[in-house]
Amino acid sequence: MYKHLRDLLFLLPAETSHHLTLDALKLANKAGLLGLIRSNAQPAAPTRVMGIDFPNRVGMAAGLDKNGEYINALGALGFGFIEIGTVTPRPQPGNPKPRLFRLPEAQAIINRMGFNNYGIDYLLDQVSKASYKGILGINIGKNFDTAVENAADDYLIGLRKAYLHAHYITVNISSPNTPGLRKLQYGDDLKNLLVTLREEQSKLAQQHGRYVPVAIKVAPDLTEAEIRDMAGVFSSVQIDALIATNTTLDKSAVQGLRHADEQGGLSGMPLTQHSTEVIRQFRADMDSKIPIIGVGGIMSGEAAQAKLAAGASLVQVYTGFIYRGPELVKECVEATKKAG
Ligand SMILES: Cc1cc2nc3c(=O)[nH]c(=O)nc-3n(C[C@H](O)[C@H](O)[C@H](O)COP(=O)(O)O)c2cc1C
Repeated sequence: MYKHLRDLLFLLPAETSHHLTLDALKLANKAGLLGLIRSNAQPAAPTRVMGIDFPNRVGMAAGLDKNGEYINALGALGFGFIEIGTVTPRPQPGNPKPRLFRLPEAQAIINRMGFNNYGIDYLLDQVSKASYKGILGINIGKNFDTAVENAADDYLIGLRKAYLHAHYITVNISSPNTPGLRKLQYGDDLKNLLVTLREEQSKLAQQHGRYVPVAIKVAPDLTEAEIRDMAGVFSSVQIDALIATNTTLDKSAVQGLRHADEQGGLSGMPLTQHSTEVIRQFRADMDSKIPIIGVGGIMSGEAAQAKLAAGASLVQVYTGFIYRGPELVKECVEATKKAG
């Protein structure tokens, strides 16, 4: 059924159908219809990662629900966890439209959204109104007009504000659409940022009597040497989890297709293999106690399984969900249950 609906939605501009679909999901959920999908869906496949008990290994990746407006509806689709955001301290419009492009021949998307969001206060208000009782991650970023040198200030605001409202918090230093952001993945910039956030996390844990894990999300566009260096920093700072990967700037796999020359990050099928290799290398180079959440081109249960085989403990989907709908969630839960 999703396929027929999708064929209609794909006739519209990508961002229009994005909002239409999410609003329709929200309505369907309010009418009690999404419970039907879930009740004949997968049996539970619990797993403990970052000290959190997940009902299954398959999550919704960041960026679909940037403002936390669709938590209940997404929560009714069988995901083991949902990550909302990326959210910034202050509201910002993102890049001018069009900024989201489908490449159906490649089962891919190119986006340059640029962290369009209503700001963290709005998102936290949405979280407080949601009745969803499942695992929730909040993904934080910096405003586009905050200098990269002052990025830590924005992440500290996000961490402090989101701390008691999430099961885990993701620090996004890997979006390609905020100029300079990916610079935070390297050398002293990375180390200083992570040490600052780790100290704040310890303070907050003491203050509130509750430890909330912090995950770091990285790009796929890294050399072997860069991965080795980053893995060293992640191990020494003892981050709580790594999320690999964000979208890629490498468009070689889609050359010649309509929209292939659009600026932005590429996701979906062309990213599958590459993101799995990045996970494999981080798994080899990083302290084995630090779990990896694998994301990037999971378009089938088999691809989800491959992420686990490369060393991930959990997986997330975005583009696969756009192309295949809730059926993909079910397929991935079943595939990753067997793998576990
Ligand atoms: C339209 C779009 C918007 C995204 N926005 C965000 C975001 O705000 N924060 C983030 O960490 N990742 C964002 N992502 C990246 C996804 O979470 C994911 O890491 C990436 O798309 C690879 O997975 P996929 O191939 O399953 O889509 C976005 C992806 C897409 C396609």
